[in-house]
Amino acid sequence: MASKTYRICTLPGDGIGPEILEQAVRVLQAVGERYDVEFICTDALLGGIAIDETGDPFPPETLAAAKAADAVLLAAVGGPKWDTTDPDKPRPEQGLLGIRKELGLFANIRPVKTYRQLVGASTLRPEVVDGVDLVIVRELTGGLYFGARDRKYDVPGAGVDGAPGQQAYDTMSYSEYEVDRIVREAFRIAKTRRNKVTNVDKANVLESCRMWREVEHRIAGEFPEVENGDMLVDNAAMQLVRNPTQFDVIVCENTFGDILSDEASMLTGSLGMLASASLGSGTALYEPSHGSAPDIAGLGVANPLAQIISVELMLSYSFGMRDAADDIERAIEETLAEGYRTRDLADASVPADKVVGCAGMGDLIVAKVRG
Ligand code: IPM
Ligand code: MG
Repeated sequence: MASKTYRICTLPGDGIGPEILEQAVRVLQAVGERYDVEFICTDALLGGIAIDETGDPFPPETLAAAKAADAVLLAAVGGPKWDTTDPDKPRPEQGLLGIRKELGLFANIRPVKTYRQLVGASTLRPEVVDGVDLVIVRELTGGLYFGARDRKYDVPGAGVDGAPGQQAYDTMSYSEYEVDRIVREAFRIAKTRRNKVTNVDKANVLESCRMWREVEHRIAGEFPEVENGDMLVDNAAMQLVRNPTQFDVIVCENTFGDILSDEASMLTGSLGMLASASLGSGTALYEPSHGSAPDIAGLGVANPLAQIISVELMLSYSFGMRDAADDIERAIEETLAEGYRTRDLADASVPADKVVGCAGMGDLIVAKVRG
């Protein structure tokens, strides 16, 4: 009998999801053997595959399984098969947004760290990305993603040349408590790091952001040891590529965080390197920040590292297994130092025998974690 048992709800989803999750689960099992912990992983349906099998992107059984688990490990959802602009058709993304909302996962933590071995893989100059180590703390259950929205048809004068046409809106809305709790999370994280929080908003234009900033400043006052500053989101987008090492913790609204995290991922060389933890009051969820990459699904070439780093975050945040998390981190660093790359990370200078597939990368990490 293992000394401890944890139950993980695994959600393979669509596209490359099943392939990358398989490798991450292998790494998790290797950790389990080494630390005498049993991880029981049980698949549930989410996203496009859930639509195909049940008609619902987020079936009630999945919610129940997620709630009963100690943690949720999600791969990716979505694909052209389910793409539609018809508001009455189910979309895979509704599964993702639904599970975030239902589990109350208001804090999305996206660490962006450049691996020294990969500074050459970024499209930016090595001296710009070397040493980047920042965390985006993205609000995940409010803002523009969840505000009131509507779409109307045949509105007089809304069409081209005065004809009837469509009108649609989304709303960026926050309650004070929602801002309070995400900002607190950012300051809590900053205290475990370099004690710096950059508040990113658009307070020069948006009312919701003016309130956000006011609340942020009030909480900053409770953390005098943490350096705090404001940055408008357009400027932040620019600063991320101009001088990314100035950042420690960035805290922002849902949509801003979505956009900035994709941008920031390129500092690491590939979106395939960025993992995230979504935390709230209940079960936490861990997932790569990237999508389901349907164009390379089934080819065996996907980069499983973001999914494997998601496991690392899960071990550290949900199970307090920091040594095990460090083992995975070291395994990744060593593998990259040995020159192995998945296709997304390999430029012309990488010899063909060092370019590995999804399972090949999994093999290398598993072997190192086993020690
Ligand atoms: C992300 C993704 C999702 C988001 C999509 C798939 C709905 O882009 O996790 O960043 O926008 O939150
Ligand atoms: Mg995104």
